[in-house]
Amino acid sequence: MDFTEETATPAVAGSFEGTADPRLREVLGSLVRHLHGFVREVEPTFEEWERAIRFLTETGQRCDDTRQEFILLSDVLGVTMLVDAVNHRTASAATDSTVLGPFHVVASPRRELGDTIDLVGAGEPCVVSGRVSSMDGTPLAGALLDVWQADDHGFYDVQQPGTQPEGNGRGLFTCDHEGRFWFRTVTPSPYPIPTDGPVGRLLAATGRHPYRPAHIHLIVAADGHLPVTTHVFVAGSPYLDSDAVFAVKQSLVRDFARVDDPDKAAAYGVEPPFRHAEFDVVLQPAHGPEAG
Ligand code: BEZ
Ligand code: FE
Repeated sequence: MDFTEETATPAVAGSFEGTADPRLREVLGSLVRHLHGFVREVEPTFEEWERAIRFLTETGQRCDDTRQEFILLSDVLGVTMLVDAVNHRTASAATDSTVLGPFHVVASPRRELGDTIDLVGAGEPCVVSGRVSSMDGTPLAGALLDVWQADDHGFYDVQQPGTQPEGNGRGLFTCDHEGRFWFRTVTPSPYPIPTDGPVGRLLAATGRHPYRPAHIHLIVAADGHLPVTTHVFVAGSPYLDSDAVFAVKQSLVRDFARVDDPDKAAAYGVEPPFRHAEFDVVLQPAHGPEAG
């Protein structure tokens, strides 16, 4: 039988029917049906299809050890947050997750509670503190907190090798016996996602801005619990309602309150005035009723 518009989808989907892994068979069948549906709807010319292939090729060519343009593409298309949504359909008291982003590409240096992750010392000082607990309120002693953020100009250390010290804006902390953590940093600023690649061209061609609201990234993990990849967002930051990667959840927005009290500043080892954000994290037991 000839390969025609009518026979195309059953022919290609059928070609995967012998796939031994049932999940792979299901995924490939769905991929073929949706891709073919897209082509039928859009009716691309050969020129347009070549352009699409070139775009995806260039996206891959912008991926290396410190840059991940495909994550960026998934993020600006809202796919990352849709994957997040379909994996968290049940409301839970656990801390909400959000995008990993493309900059968690190097291991964070181990630091002691109270250390600063800001190795440059520019920008407004900031303290972040909180407590990691399980859904029933039990503090999770020894929970691990991996944090990373852009500098006060909106760049991650891996974007500026030789300009920023390695590990700037990153830290791996172990919570104390009560699940508490605190660390020093600079108050995060809004910043644009990288625009010098194919994803930036896509945003420019469609009149979209590339900015993200001010935030700090965290991955929090503890024995017997599901880890969470999340952010704490700065209340009042520009772009909270138009994040370029659709990653804001209201439950993750916190006041970064200005503190002038010199005693409080001295207790944290910062100069007043500084900003203080409190962000408690609740983890879901790995084998609890809501784990999935
Ligand atoms: C980030 O916050 O690091 C980020 C997230 C998604 C895309 C680009 C950057
Ligand atoms: Fe970020």
